[in-house]
Amino acid sequence: MLHFKKNDLCIEQVKLSDIAKQYGTSAYIYSKNQIIKNFEAYRKALGSKRGFICFACKTNSNGAILKLLAGIGAGADTTSGGEIYRCLKAGFNPSKIVYAGVGKTSEEIEYALKSKIFMFNIESFEELDAIDNIADKMKVKAKISFRINPYVNPDTHSYIVTGKKGTKFGIPYEDAVKAYLTAKKKKNVAIVGIHSHIGSQILNIASFKLAAQKIKKIVDAVEKNGIKLEYINCGGGLGIEYEEGQKVPDPSQLMLELFPVFDKDKKFIFEPGRSIIGNAGHMLIKILYRKISGGKSFLITDAGMNDLIRPTLYEAYHEIMPIKKTNAKKVKTDVVGPICESGDFIGKDRMLPIIEQGGYLLVTCTGAYGAAMSSEYNSRTLLPEVLVDGDKAVLIRKRASYKNLLLNEI
Ligand code: LLP
Repeated sequence: MLHFKKNDLCIEQVKLSDIAKQYGTSAYIYSKNQIIKNFEAYRKALGSKRGFICFACKTNSNGAILKLLAGIGAGADTTSGGEIYRCLKAGFNPSKIVYAGVGKTSEEIEYALKSKIFMFNIESFEELDAIDNIADKMKVKAKISFRINPYVNPDTHSYIVTGKKGTKFGIPYEDAVKAYLTAKKKKNVAIVGIHSHIGSQILNIASFKLAAQKIKKIVDAVEKNGIKLEYINCGGGLGIEYEEGQKVPDPSQLMLELFPVFDKDKKFIFEPGRSIIGNAGHMLIKILYRKISGGKSFLITDAGMNDLIRPTLYEAYHEIMPIKKTNAKKVKTDVVGPICESGDFIGKDRMLPIIEQGGYLLVTCTGAYGAAMSSEYNSRTLLPEVLVDGDKAVLIRKRASYKNLLLNEI
């Protein structure tokens, strides 16, 4: 939903220069209609009777965005008690909340049970014991799946691979059937399905298919033992187009490949995060100072690695563009932040037009894992967030103040 109207870059119908004036920078800006479009693509591909889509809310947990997704029928994929709390507050139906994570605490398990979530995705035998014991004390039955590590290594950054042998995630592939047989004997759990999530920013459907084929083998073996698995949870992980020309599969292509792997009576859960919110959000930043040093051109901006950690943590590429059309000469530029670390950059060696001091840049496709992974490092206050719908831009999170920095200190 980014486009130029004459010389101005707009998100939906709103000029980014107007947002900068109204809300200041740096700031995260989201397109409501892009979020809806992305979600609808999943929903349409899945169909209404074959299961449901759980937004992976770790990608972006702003309450207004969660509320929007809950309102159009999304479920939620959560990874902590805090996320379950946010999702309930935002109006998600608990019967569409799933909960994964290798380290669920007793408090979190108790909270999830009390909240009557749809299911736990269990990642170890000891976690199964813990859930069974807590459910027993609470006199409830916990609905569960096991997250199985299918030992599939998708082609993506090593920090965001989860389905490979030797990672901490899920039940080891060779122990999968044993996990179900152990759970069958537990009084306080009800087995609902099976889960796997192999990684993130995956552009190759073959990895998803291979994982599904390996999961199918487990489903068959488990069902031979009289345990019915109603839901196949395929996790998230579909990538987005960060760089122009990157080939990105869409949800219908993914499902077309995965559905035939399983029997027709199976229901599915998908847990997309990045592919729902990634290209719907962008970070608007201002050029504070410019300098040439060591023969290199630097733009020093008001956003640092605390606001967007992806470039330095994953060597991630986000396109950076001026919000005004210009014919100025392009030079190789590093776009950096104000923090005293050489890892504090937004983009390196970018061909950018020479822009005046005080000009603005848009760091695109930062809706997923942008604001969500930001921190107050260097005692920098968290950014405001703005949601655009047509010609309206509404503040959905205030810029934090210095007082916020001290909020919980004693
Ligand atoms: N389900 C589970 C169990 C997950 O662990 C994740 C993400 C998802 C779903 C959503 O995956 P997505 O559709 O967003 O790829 N911070 C990293 C990405 C970490 C992904 C963690 N798990 C980044 O900025 O690239």
